[in-house]
Amino acid sequence: MTAEQIRRDELRGWLDGIAAFNATPGEGITRGVYTPEFEDARRYVIGEMKKLGLTVREDCLGNIFGEYPGTDPNAAPVWTGSHIDTVPNGGKYDGLAGVFAGLEAVAAMRRAGVRPKRTISVNVYAGEEMSRFGVCCIGSRGLSGRLSLTDLKNHADPSGTSLYDALKNLGYAPEDFDQTFPHKAPIHASLELHIEQNDKLEKAGVPVGIVTGICAPTNMICEVDGVQSHAGGTSMTDRRDAYMAAAEMALLLEELANTSTSDYITGTIGEITLTPGAANVIPGKAVFTVDIRSVSAEDKDELVENLRAGMRAIAERRGVDGTLTPLNNDAPLRCDAHLSAVLREQADALDIPHMDLISGPYHDSLMLGDLAPAAMVFIPCEKGISHDRAENIDDDDLVKGTAVLAEALAKIADE
Ligand code: GLV
Ligand code: MN
Ligand code: MN
Repeated sequence: MTAEQIRRDELRGWLDGIAAFNATPGEGITRGVYTPEFEDARRYVIGEMKKLGLTVREDCLGNIFGEYPGTDPNAAPVWTGSHIDTVPNGGKYDGLAGVFAGLEAVAAMRRAGVRPKRTISVNVYAGEEMSRFGVCCIGSRGLSGRLSLTDLKNHADPSGTSLYDALKNLGYAPEDFDQTFPHKAPIHASLELHIEQNDKLEKAGVPVGIVTGICAPTNMICEVDGVQSHAGGTSMTDRRDAYMAAAEMALLLEELANTSTSDYITGTIGEITLTPGAANVIPGKAVFTVDIRSVSAEDKDELVENLRAGMRAIAERRGVDGTLTPLNNDAPLRCDAHLSAVLREQADALDIPHMDLISGPYHDSLMLGDLAPAAMVFIPCEKGISHDRAENIDDDDLVKGTAVLAEALAKIADE
């Protein structure tokens, strides 16, 4: 499929159409997993899949599979797709670009009369963002065998609703989890298109990135227990201020990431809650999230160990208690060399410039790499901005990325 065979207007229509399902109109897109907006967006995608003639399946986590049947029903399928949930006040393209690129790729094949041997399934993986339940890639994690029924019961959102109850309340059947995911599905290959979420492609003026490795997150919750007391009445030397200890821990994380010799490593504290949370009260408790990413599992483990030791020392010196609870510790993924080579070949054949990249953000492909050889195509996003309402793309790049994806899918589905 050449770029001319990809329908730019249809892609734009889908991206704009799904943006209507949003809890924060005018303030970016907020579509948390298993919320009413998420359910509406799922129904929208299922409707569009049906219009394209795809066979739609769903599972008990809310993953959607839109299948373009191959000529050999016994051949393991090829998967593509991404996610439709967003971070709070996020953008229109993170995840969405990959879902609609997948849909247009199979639609273009059908229009061109291309029907490969293997079924190509355009998938929507439920809950890639960790913003609501503190765990990322819920749907693809389930598919890859990295999630258990106990995890569904243990992970809860800030209001205390567990993943299990959220699913149950929406009419899914989480009690079927152990029957739905006893074995890993036999998948031939997985290809995902995604916006880059960095500015390397834009700076280089290159429309397509071939991802060689995906950094994986290690997520933890840190709880610091100090002593609540009067902001004016407690002199500086007598305090056991939970926030000041947390702040020192945060700066330690930054220093460890800055001084690591890793190829790529990041440390982030994105959320903090102070209790009781009043201007004239020294906080007795601080709870904050920790997010550490690297393309090397060893470098990440080393940073986590140094962080633990450093936090213990800070807590001791400041007379507070600190506990660090792991939420997930995922292994980074090296993308499949053969699939990446096919992507490069197809981009060359279409005369579309491309370059290799490492992904700092995680993606559903990180999980899918457990099931099958996996690779990713990136397209640029404006100024590298993502997880923000200012997220933007050039539709020409999406068309080019979709053409490369379509050609690679057709090729790999005929292997
Ligand atoms: C995915 O959105 C990430 O946080 O990397
Ligand atoms: Mn994201
Ligand atoms: Mn994403």
